[in-house]
Amino acid sequence: MTLPMVVPAQDLPARVRIHEVGARDGLQNEKSVVPTEVKAEFVHRLAAAGLTTVEATSFVHPKWVPQLADAEQLFPMLGDLSDVALPVLVPNERGLDRALALGAHRIAVFASATESFAKANLNRTVDESLAMFEPVVARAKADRAHVRGYLSMCFGDPWEGAVPVQQVVRVAKALMDMGCDELSLGDTIGVATPAHVQTLLAELNEEGVPTSAIGVHFHDTYGQALSNTLAALQHGVSTVDASAGGLGGCPYAKSATGNLATEDLVWMLQGLGIDTGVDLGLLTATSVWMADQLGRPSPSRTVRALSHQES
Ligand code: HMG
Ligand code: MG
Repeated sequence: MTLPMVVPAQDLPARVRIHEVGARDGLQNEKSVVPTEVKAEFVHRLAAAGLTTVEATSFVHPKWVPQLADAEQLFPMLGDLSDVALPVLVPNERGLDRALALGAHRIAVFASATESFAKANLNRTVDESLAMFEPVVARAKADRAHVRGYLSMCFGDPWEGAVPVQQVVRVAKALMDMGCDELSLGDTIGVATPAHVQTLLAELNEEGVPTSAIGVHFHDTYGQALSNTLAALQHGVSTVDASAGGLGGCPYAKSATGNLATEDLVWMLQGLGIDTGVDLGLLTATSVWMADQLGRPSPSRTVRALSHQES
């Protein structure tokens, strides 16, 4: 298999933790509902490829995201993956009850920097959704669960256009003050560019949010996800969200397409000499297999190049 020549760069993290979101962000946006057994095999194959954090599913309202309505069936099928972190999305206390009842110990709440997306995604204003998360985070922490706080629309919003940096920082700080262990900055519709990313990161640092607590979550709508990732790495970020094969989107954000493809990310990181623990061959084979299940080729350039998949 072709691999990139390793040419390390100065001043980048030695290791990057990939937060794999294909089974959640990817599959939540599929028109067809993927059978639970296929999802379970997908997560197992991702883990076998060396991914140590594999977001498994969401405990949201099944009518809002029918694609993930089988969370209760799926999560117990992953019980053998004791070495893998399996975070799940939880919007409210009802979701937390469902997740904790199954023994989940990594959860993620998901806020929005904009009012329009808060309404579309959570049926709440931004502040109402923060109030909804507060007891979720408090109870999760009391249960010693790890809590991730997603923040969507950090760089632009399909209804509101450009999103001021200070507006993003306010909600980010609220999530951190609530007790979130980490923050994932979402470019939900893929409109960010590298200096915008670095400006937001610098502003967050200025306001007391350390880079070590920040992950980046880029969708690749305009082909900027990898450039934006490199900009974040240059700032010191070492947690990067990606989705195997570039699956993904968000059913409640028009124009949200797939996430940064994990294979494209691993190719770049491997070339930079940055350790991820991921076996690119096994991962690519997984995405080719998943593309077969979904009946269409992966949008990832690396998957296509390595597997000679036709578009
Ligand atoms: P709502 O309609 O306002 O719900 O939805 P409610 O609080 O009024 O409750 C209504 C009924 O739903 C009640 O039942 C609740 O018990 C039930 P009733 O008493 O009428 O019989 N209910 C639930 N049932 C099961 N599980 C639950 C749950 N909650 C309430 N968790 C709600 C509010 C938050 C539930 C809804 O808006 C929702 O589920 N939204 C989820 C949307 C979603 O999952 N979006 C995709 C994930 S976000 C994303 O993709 C972005 C990200 O990738 C980052 C990025 O790219 O930017 C993370
Ligand atoms: Mg997303």
